[in-house]
Amino acid sequence: MHINGKTIWVVGASQGIGLCLAESLLKRQCRVVASSRNAEQSPELIQLKLRYPGKIALIDCDIGERDSLPPVIEQAWSFFNGIDIWLYNVGSYQPMSISDWEIEKFEQMNQSNYLGAVYLMYGLWPKFEQQGFGEWLWNVSLASDFGLPYGGGYSAPKAALMNLAESLHPELLEHNIRLKVINHGFVKTRLTAKNDFPMLGLMSAQDAADRIVKALQQNRFETRFPLNLSAVLATLKRLPKSWSLFFTQKMLRKTNHD
Ligand SMILES: NC(=O)c1ccc[n+]([C@@H]2O[C@H](COP(=O)([O-])OP(=O)(O)OC[C@H]3O[C@@H](n4cnc5c(N)ncnc54)[C@H](OP(=O)(O)O)[C@@H]3O)[C@@H](O)[C@H]2O)c1
Repeated sequence: MHINGKTIWVVGASQGIGLCLAESLLKRQCRVVASSRNAEQSPELIQLKLRYPGKIALIDCDIGERDSLPPVIEQAWSFFNGIDIWLYNVGSYQPMSISDWEIEKFEQMNQSNYLGAVYLMYGLWPKFEQQGFGEWLWNVSLASDFGLPYGGGYSAPKAALMNLAESLHPELLEHNIRLKVINHGFVKTRLTAKNDFPMLGLMSAQDAADRIVKALQQNRFETRFPLNLSAVLATLKRLPKSWSLFFTQKMLRKTNHD
């Protein structure tokens, strides 16, 4: 599939991977609707608007505010008169040990990593159905493969998003809507700045964005990268659980046993 000239709504476009995606798509002559909580004030997105006049719309959107979303969806849909591709890239991450759990952080990760996509798809579905074609691309995470110590608040809603995508794909395809997921590993953004361990296969946000743009042009349901981390997590997922849990027990920080 060629993406040149397509209209793409990137939700989560002001930082990290989403910002690189917005710029890469503009370079490919796409029209971009860029959203985040402060998209209209984002200096980087405003710069893109100056460099690509008439090609990018900035629309503020907080996916945690469900009742505020219907008018946002209307605005995003009507700006370029329809949307070819909806790209859900919102995510939030807070590693937590059971000794420092915060319920608000669990709730926020549920909103960003799962429910936000549900809210948006609920509003977008009738529009895509009427349009008769389209593509949805959800940025999930390799973390959805297996719950790792301290990361469950992030990976559990990502696993839910992945499961939802599998469940929706067949029906959506009957309506000529192709749903794809990206499961990638560590990317150098403000999210991974919270990690205090060596990150296997850490890549730049631009590298990740380039691979996501490539995935947009292929018909594969799931795109996974990088290979090394993907293989490790796929193995953990497929091994007998007692074996996988034996390995993840080894990942606990030493201080937890003191
Ligand atoms: N970085 C990694 O290693 C990694 C690995 C696997 C998967 N991913 C996934 O890749 C995606 C992008 O991650 P990233 O690392 O680029 O993160 P990031 O730099 O924090 O960017 C996240 C984007 O989402 C927006 N956002 C956050 N909360 C929002 C909300 N409530 N409503 C609307 N927009 C919101 C942010 O803008 P505002 O804060 O301005 O709203 C920002 O534009 C996420 O889905 C993440 O889970 C990342």
